[in-house]
Amino acid sequence: MSRENEQIVTIDGPSGVGKSTVSRAVAARLGYTYLDTGAMYRAVAWKCLQDGVPPDDEDAVARLLEDINIRLLPPEKDGDDVRVLVNGRDVSREIRSPEMAMAASRVSALGTVREKLTRMQQEMGAAGRIVAEGRDTGTVVFPRAAWKFFLDAAPGERARRRAEQLRLRGQEVDEKKILAQIIQRDRDDRERTIAPLRAAPDAIHIDTTNLDLDQVVDRILSHIRT
Ligand code: DC
Repeated sequence: MSRENEQIVTIDGPSGVGKSTVSRAVAARLGYTYLDTGAMYRAVAWKCLQDGVPPDDEDAVARLLEDINIRLLPPEKDGDDVRVLVNGRDVSREIRSPEMAMAASRVSALGTVREKLTRMQQEMGAAGRIVAEGRDTGTVVFPRAAWKFFLDAAPGERARRRAEQLRLRGQEVDEKKILAQIIQRDRDDRERTIAPLRAAPDAIHIDTTNLDLDQVVDRILSHIRT
């Protein structure tokens, strides 16, 4: 299949850059399905914490993966994150805490976890018409995607956006702590050996520091339409 035939859009970038909001909006405008790959890593992290398994114990995490069932469902209302079920239990809210993000980053460095989730993501995208968001969707999961984007923004701006998002969800936030976590998580995500966070060579870079949501979405759509 030629690259152009794959109706797949990938949107990668560091944490807090606005990937989820942008990706959801792009998917809605194109009538494509939105695939939040980070939610799947968070789901595995949630199961580790639930079962008392250290997120970097590869053997124990591999055993845990044998009986984990992760389902992603459309959000209940517009603007919400996808709903996530782990073995039938709705963990949508619990997986969105900064602590769960850190644990997700740790499990995401394990080869067994990446292999399993990458395979699941490729199956979910097999029919095309998908907007996939994450760290490696343009490099590893869908290397033949027709349109690839890499979003970035200054760390301070990303911390501000993430804090705002958590506040809107009614969570208490310490913006300095969020900034420190963002810097640490970026470093870990970029420096891991397997499928590190990086732009695909053929990705279009967009610095969103001074752009609002609509401007980012419009830029992406104008690239896709031309
Ligand atoms: O996008 P997010 O904040 O929900 O992702 C949580 C963590 O999961 C992130 O720090 C790294 C990992 N992740 C990954 O390694 N690969 C992806 N495609 C998506 C997320």
